Amino acid sequence: MSLSKKTTRWMDKHNITRQDEKTVVVTGANSGIGFKIAETMVYLGATVIMACRNLSKAESAKRALLDEYPNANIHVIELDIASLNSIDRFVETISNNKINIDVFVNNAGIFHHKGEVTSDGFEAVLGTNFIGTYYICEKLFPYLETLGHPVTLINTISLAHRFGKIDFNDFYYSKHYGNFKVYARSKVALAKYTYSLATSRQNSNVTVLMNHPGISMTPIALQSFGKMIYTIGGALKWMFNSPEKSSLSVSLIMSKHFDAGSIIGPNVLVNGWGYPRKNRIRKRVKTGGEELKEFAEVEISRVRNK
Ligand SMILES: NC(=O)c1ccc[n+]([C@@H]2O[C@H](COP(=O)([O-])OP(=O)(O)OC[C@H]3O[C@@H](n4cnc5c(N)ncnc54)[C@H](OP(=O)(O)O)[C@@H]3O)[C@@H](O)[C@H]2O)c1
Repeated sequence: MSLSKKTTRWMDKHNITRQDEKTVVVTGANSGIGFKIAETMVYLGATVIMACRNLSKAESAKRALLDEYPNANIHVIELDIASLNSIDRFVETISNNKINIDVFVNNAGIFHHKGEVTSDGFEAVLGTNFIGTYYICEKLFPYLETLGHPVTLINTISLAHRFGKIDFNDFYYSKHYGNFKVYARSKVALAKYTYSLATSRQNSNVTVLMNHPGISMTPIALQSFGKMIYTIGGALKWMFNSPEKSSLSVSLIMSKHFDAGSIIGPNVLVNGWGYPRKNRIRKRVKTGGEELKEFAEVEISRVRNK
């Protein structure tokens, strides 16, 4: 481990700034892109809070980082983004301990969980990528506002948001389930909600943005391309962004100004590959966020009142 020369050269070229005084929370930081976001933040001097559902995986990821960066300031807090109770406990821990946060990255996400449901009973992918992420944003936002200083909240979407369709009559695809359709719906729902949150809170100290990793060599991308690519994935490494390259949107966001609601992600070949920059926001992202918020609220009350 340790960042590649290409990454550090890119950082120098793009005036990526030190983050010594900053505290960055990354959900799903124990592996994949989240781990690389944690590493780049540690490299830049930030204090990192790894918010993970599996504490033993999180502790070993923390140890791996400390082996490479012995002076790093890294903490682990339990968070299962697919559980409303876990989100409640996490936000309580943050606010009771008055933990400072400068940047909060909602990175945790899943792709392929046909037939599975969350502990609250939601279809697993929509319950994790959309409902859980929605819920933590809403729960955390008031606390982030009390901090008074500039805070950046980053939600991780996906290129798949361009293909996702919303249908409130069968939101969880109980009839014609398809892995990609469900994932794409979860990400377009998150993008629409995030855009609406970002634009409705322009006067807040909290700036809301989105990042997307392009197509990155992690289990999620390999699953979405199917079994064959999964099997020969190693040989096709060159076709994917590395998780490290995909993680750099967060470094860029922290070093430059982007308007609330912007999407930052790779810049080559329909935004699938390359280093990050500001992407064009599709029209579809700009509408429907309020309806999704109302839908998520009703769904959360429904399972809470069971
Ligand atoms: N890779 C790509 O090409 C790609 C493309 C577009 C978007 N994305 C998005 O990028 C994000 C990171 O994906 P990745 O590619 O790095 O995938 P990954 O390697 O599978 O990592 C996902 C991370 O999220 C964590 N996670 C999953 N469910 C969680 C939950 N309920 N609570 C807390 N943590 C949870 C996982 O923890 P465990 O180890 O405990 O499972 C893992 O650390 C996701 O939001 C994904 O949708 C990825």
